[in-house]
Amino acid sequence: MKQIIILINIDGKSIKGNFMANILVLYDSNSGNTKKMAEYVFEGANSSGNNVVKLLCVDDATTEDINWCDGIAVGSPTNMGLLSWKMKKFWDECGNELWGKIDGKIGCAFSSEGGWGGGAEITCMSILTVLMNFGFLVFGATDYVADKFTLHYGATNPGSPDSKQAIDACKRIGQKLDHWANKYFNK
Ligand SMILES: Cc1cc2nc3c(=O)[nH]c(=O)nc-3n(C[C@H](O)[C@H](O)[C@H](O)COP(=O)(O)O)c2cc1C
Repeated sequence: MKQIIILINIDGKSIKGNFMANILVLYDSNSGNTKKMAEYVFEGANSSGNNVVKLLCVDDATTEDINWCDGIAVGSPTNMGLLSWKMKKFWDECGNELWGKIDGKIGCAFSSEGGWGGGAEITCMSILTVLMNFGFLVFGATDYVADKFTLHYGATNPGSPDSKQAIDACKRIGQKLDHWANKYFNK
């Protein structure tokens, strides 16, 4: 039998769904650019207010955080066209405990690069490859947030995300994560 739980906000409004999905925005950042992106992704992931959203630096993350989440956005600086060694090490070390046990979660990616064409999209692909290896269902977005500015493989931007389009791309991938988490985990 399906269990129905109705949650009531403090302002008396009911929250849609049986339960809240857990969303993790996990990032690495050496000089703060990916961290800023993560903060906008976090903002987007809070859009519906239906889910519990946590923002976490990879330095502070544990396997419990990965177990906890239903959906994840993983961000890394573009380092030689790949995710950073720290982010890779984190997932390498999660492997023993989590690999084969967390299939079916959803995931997406974002990355700050040094300059246009510096490899942020292939960095996103390297993040998605890691997530796929753990059995995550990964996604991009067909959306354009400005003329000739999209996020097909995740949100990407050179340097700090200060332009409106960069901020909107980060928020949009977060909104997508929120949307898909509602769709797949909040029945
Ligand atoms: C070891 C290392 C490798 C890098 N490799 C690339 C690269 O391949 N392509 C690129 O565009 N930028 C590269 N960069 C620049 C960073 O991606 C860029 O400065 C980014 O904005 C840093 O993000 P952060 O502030 O979150 O650390 C590299 C930086 C470092 C330290």
